[in-house]
Amino acid sequence: MIYNVVLVGYGYWGPKLARNIQNSNKFRIHSIVDTSKKNLEIAKKNFPLSKLYRDYQKINNDKIDLAIISTPTKFHFKIADYFLNFTNVLVEKPLALNLRDVLLLEKKAVKSKKKLFVDYPFIFSGSIKYIENLINSRKYGKLLEIESFREQAPVRKDADVVWDLGVHDISILRYLLKSKPIKIQSLKYNTIKTSKKDTAYINLKFKNDLKVFIKNSWISPIKIRIIKFKFEKAIVICDENEPIYKLKIYSRNNHSKPNYKLELPEIDLSEPLFNLIEYIGKSIQDNKNPIFKNNFNADITKILEKI
Ligand SMILES: NC(=O)c1ccc[n+]([C@@H]2O[C@H](COP(=O)([O-])OP(=O)(O)OC[C@H]3O[C@@H](n4cnc5c(N)ncnc54)[C@H](O)[C@@H]3O)[C@@H](O)[C@H]2O)c1
Repeated sequence: MIYNVVLVGYGYWGPKLARNIQNSNKFRIHSIVDTSKKNLEIAKKNFPLSKLYRDYQKINNDKIDLAIISTPTKFHFKIADYFLNFTNVLVEKPLALNLRDVLLLEKKAVKSKKKLFVDYPFIFSGSIKYIENLINSRKYGKLLEIESFREQAPVRKDADVVWDLGVHDISILRYLLKSKPIKIQSLKYNTIKTSKKDTAYINLKFKNDLKVFIKNSWISPIKIRIIKFKFEKAIVICDENEPIYKLKIYSRNNHSKPNYKLELPEIDLSEPLFNLIEYIGKSIQDNKNPIFKNNFNADITKILEKI
């Protein structure tokens, strides 16, 4: 069975979603919606067989199996709410701009028996899967500390840097630790004249004395996507910008006099967006959605609100 997709929003991120949909043998792009004529023309060149619309409300048939929403964040709620009436929905991160809207969407999905997915791409990456196994197997002992540095991204007008970039860190933490922080401290700044806060320093404390530090900033001449996981017997550095060796494991035998041994593990390098699309195909097929259950989206949004 090939599922029909409508993609709403063909700006910067929309074409990446479209490419991954096209590469999957489970889906095809049925239609593309964008309010911008220019972007629709680009979409037409890339997907000549797809139907094109300026207004998403023109789509109201039940031939659509999945609506993907990749518009600016302030429109996510309204558009997701519309499509959940008759189809499954994948929304770009962040799902919405407040907890109330996230809970309304979750409720609507349950009521209309449709599935709601969010594109938190890193939880579908080979590196985070590898780290998940290290945490669960306790191969290097207990996890003591996590530090994340996520810098450089387009400045947004409708969401601050925490809702835009920090949401990646919070989704990774919620996915890996399956728990919420017991303490949250944060400082947020406008370092240049952006309408929303462009830089954030976040300290979180989880149970078992696990400490987390997150730095997010849109303003940086270089793109940084580094997370350090400190275990009792190793420090694992995850750099999503690295093409192949995204993980470096520095293990040590002696705690007091560290003598690090470097290991470069082989990880699954498939594109996280592709893995997400495959996950969605399987979810629709099997009528299951294991990742997005147990208040996953609501927990993430609650933390974003507290920060
Ligand atoms: N998952 C990720 O790693 C990731 C990366 C980048 C962006 N995003 C998210 O993707 C979303 C889009 O970001 P972007 O950078 O592509 O923005 P963008 O501004 O480049 O593109 C948005 C597109 O939506 C169109 N649009 C606006 N309102 C519309 C409406 N009502 N109906 C139909 N089309 C409409 C615009 O014309 C534009 O083409 C944001 O929510 C952002 O947070 C996610």
